[in-house]
Amino acid sequence: MAQRSALVTGATGFIASHLAPALVAEGWSVRASGRRPRPDWLPAEAEYRSVDFVDGDGDDVRALVEGITHVFHLAGASSSKSSDDEMRRNNVVATERLFAAIAAAGTVERALHMSSTSVYGEEVQLPSPVPEDVGAQPSRGYGKAKYETEQVVWRHGEAGLAVVVLRPVSVHGPGAVKLLASAILDVAIERFMGLDRLAVHRPAVEQRLVHIDDLVRATLHLATHDEAPGRAFNIVSGVYPTSHEIAGILAAHFGMTVELDDDPDCGPPYEDRQAAWAAMRDKGMTDSIILTKERFRFMRKANRNNRLALDNLLGTGFELRHTDPQVEVVADADWCRDSGWIV
Ligand SMILES: NC(=O)c1ccc[n+]([C@@H]2O[C@H](COP(=O)([O-])OP(=O)(O)OC[C@H]3O[C@@H](n4cnc5c(N)ncnc54)[C@H](OP(=O)(O)O)[C@@H]3O)[C@@H](O)[C@H]2O)c1
Repeated sequence: MAQRSALVTGATGFIASHLAPALVAEGWSVRASGRRPRPDWLPAEAEYRSVDFVDGDGDDVRALVEGITHVFHLAGASSSKSSDDEMRRNNVVATERLFAAIAAAGTVERALHMSSTSVYGEEVQLPSPVPEDVGAQPSRGYGKAKYETEQVVWRHGEAGLAVVVLRPVSVHGPGAVKLLASAILDVAIERFMGLDRLAVHRPAVEQRLVHIDDLVRATLHLATHDEAPGRAFNIVSGVYPTSHEIAGILAAHFGMTVELDDDPDCGPPYEDRQAAWAAMRDKGMTDSIILTKERFRFMRKANRNNRLALDNLLGTGFELRHTDPQVEVVADADWCRDSGWIV
């Protein structure tokens, strides 16, 4: 492979912690950026710069893109940690500034943007499975911010830049700190409390996930595939377990039994979960995983646009590897325990 120079933004984040090492391993020259200091896991071969795309110096943003052939734009903010205003600034405004620098540099052959399936929204019924070229109807702050960010990227595409938009669903796997990881923490807490019944709301809610390894391989694949530019790609495992199935896998793994309950707020109250969480920390557990006030937060809400078309991605010859929830959910729980993220 001719030497390609990658810029990975959002490099202190979860997805980049897998993508940047994978690029280095594949022989890319890598420059990575985040706002915080250089992360420990970044391979020594990769250069690192702290640059804030919103409040930072414009010269720093321009210098970041110098000599770069491929941009992997992962920097952004999600609703787990940010207000609507922060999401807008760190997605839309940040991307406007970065892509202006990309356009000015003139060296970039391809820019990949990590968007999200949240752009489709959940209020208006779209065709199922949702194809990428549907008229998106974002319904919440995060989806609206990611949708507006995509418009910035598409405008640069219309101006001649080769852009690729990736739309992953909830990403899970080693290093994930929210969503499925938070559900794993929830079950670990209740096991720690000595419970042997795992209360789950009776209506089953269909879930969707994608493993970080599949997302990283899809990103590398689309970075060089001839038919990728100018297109968007849903990235999802293609398997849709219900909340009951996921709870059942976790319950069995932790030696518990699922008990269906009519109360959406079933299970121990937040104060009790928080107290157990503090006791687990006293026993050496890290606070890496986000403890959500709402128990099983990511499994609660049904999404009428849950199923996503995969024809675009699979049509490029890509193959998903992590599609068995039984294997994947247990592997994540084991990883969390081995890493001291649960006890
Ligand atoms: N994780 C998922 O399940 C998922 C699903 C779908 C789509 N996505 C999208 O994928 C991308 C990466 O996700 P992730 O989970 O890896 O995110 P993450 O762990 O929350 O990391 C976000 C990254 O963006 C950086 N950042 C935020 N605002 C910035 C700014 N103004 N200037 C420069 N850098 C900024 C952060 O820097 P500091 O931390 O150093 O401040 C951090 O490196 C995001 O755009 C997200 O919307 C994620």
